[in-house]
Amino acid sequence: MENSLVLVKPDGVQRGLTGEIISRMERKGLKIVGMKMLQMDEALARRHYAIHEGKAFFDDLVSFIISGPIVAIVFQGKNAVEIVRQIVGATDPAKADAGTIRGDFGVDIGHNLVHGSDSLDNASNEVDLFFSREEILAYKRDLDRWVY
Ligand code: RTP
Ligand code: MG
Repeated sequence: MENSLVLVKPDGVQRGLTGEIISRMERKGLKIVGMKMLQMDEALARRHYAIHEGKAFFDDLVSFIISGPIVAIVFQGKNAVEIVRQIVGATDPAKADAGTIRGDFGVDIGHNLVHGSDSLDNASNEVDLFFSREEILAYKRDLDRWVY
């Protein structure tokens, strides 16, 4: 089973879309194994988006992601990383397919509502950045026999 880190970004929280965003992934069959609300500080934001350091949009990206509370969730499931990216949609909401979160709710690339890990390696590092081992819960869901 894979884990993927999802962040409801400050615009998603402010617009009251936290439940909608979590619900889409939950209804797909992914299991929540960790969840918290927090406001990222600059150090965490720079680490989380380290691969983008030096790019033209980096400073704006960091200021945006620390501008308000976010909700961090770890979703677990078979192919969770790829499935989350499909549900989230393309980076630019103007190009994201209808039916994806960004395609349905976003307009601007800098306000695209949600983050999803883009690879298995990054997912593992990102989960460790936001959650301690004890905050990730192992449990069984009765409904899993109907998902798998
Ligand atoms: P994220 O990491 O936030 O889930 O988004 P992503 O994988 O779809 O896109 P990524 O390439 O990792 O970029 C991170 C965030 O930077 C902003 N961005 N702006 N102005 C631009 O050209 C530009 N490119 C990227 C977006 O807000 C994107 O989510
Ligand atoms: Mg990314």
